[in-house]
Amino acid sequence: MQKLVESINKLKKAKNAIILAHCYQPAEIDLVADFVGDSLALSQEAAKTNAQIIVFAGVYFMAQTAKILSPDKKVLLPQMNAGCKMADMITYNQLMEFKAKYPHIPAVCYVNSTAEVKSECDVCCTSSNAVEIVKSIKSDKILFLPDTYLGKWVEKQLGNVEVITYPGFCPTHLQIKPADIENIRKKYPQAAVLAHPECNTEVSEMADYVGSTTGIMNYVKNSKNKEFVIATEQGVTDRLIRDYPDKKFIPVKENIICPTMKMTSLEDILEVLDKETNEIVVDEKIAQKAAKCIDRMLEVSK
Ligand code: 13P
Ligand code: SF4
Repeated sequence: MQKLVESINKLKKAKNAIILAHCYQPAEIDLVADFVGDSLALSQEAAKTNAQIIVFAGVYFMAQTAKILSPDKKVLLPQMNAGCKMADMITYNQLMEFKAKYPHIPAVCYVNSTAEVKSECDVCCTSSNAVEIVKSIKSDKILFLPDTYLGKWVEKQLGNVEVITYPGFCPTHLQIKPADIENIRKKYPQAAVLAHPECNTEVSEMADYVGSTTGIMNYVKNSKNKEFVIATEQGVTDRLIRDYPDKKFIPVKENIICPTMKMTSLEDILEVLDKETNEIVVDEKIAQKAAKCIDRMLEVSK
């Protein structure tokens, strides 16, 4: 492993490349990553980097977003078939039908969506800024897609906006059931339960804290509590265990894993960096329209 890490770091330097990694990636990816974070932080990094090459250790829509934000850079995805099931739940045509059903209502898309979908939405958001983004829109009704659970959670936080959601969801987070929270609370009554807003509404309502990947990590950092139940992807639990050896982290249940996030290996990173393969290409017209949707988000979330 050490040799692999050294080879990647050498190539990175020689090619003026950076590696951005999502917190759901296998934890060893952090050994070569220049930046590890949630969707929002990663898109902010992608927008400001001076590197020539961005290797995106994540899923397709994340690398595509990086390419839209930095069109002059080469963006490489270590595993081309690392998609996102939720993003695939709404196509361009399905979006157009959804919008036609509710004319003149602003459309907010979760960053977990394709460039085509972003190109027809007013603004995009991530789980860390969804409330802030919806609040920034001057409308008492908004369309939210594709994640129905994040949309409904935002509606509840704001209280004065009707959020009309598209019926998409994250299959990984939906594996967490209310009964899992009940059971784990009985076993660890002292632990604070921290959940991601992609979880189903009942699960979110049962949690002590609901927030994005970074939100969960910051909660742990600032909390005096010593025990936490983590109701999100295993990568977050793994990193918390590594970073806070004096605290106890209990995954809400076994195998809350996003399979496509776990496809990336250090070998893949070395290969794409060396051969400069798996380059992300986005149609220019779509990219320009999608960029407006992403830029609006970054403008609100500076
Ligand atoms: P965040 O990175 O915004 O927490 O989102 C989680 C996720 O599911 C990414 O696909
Ligand atoms: Fe998509 Fe869910 Fe995987 Fe995130 S965890 S990339 S939303 S399938």
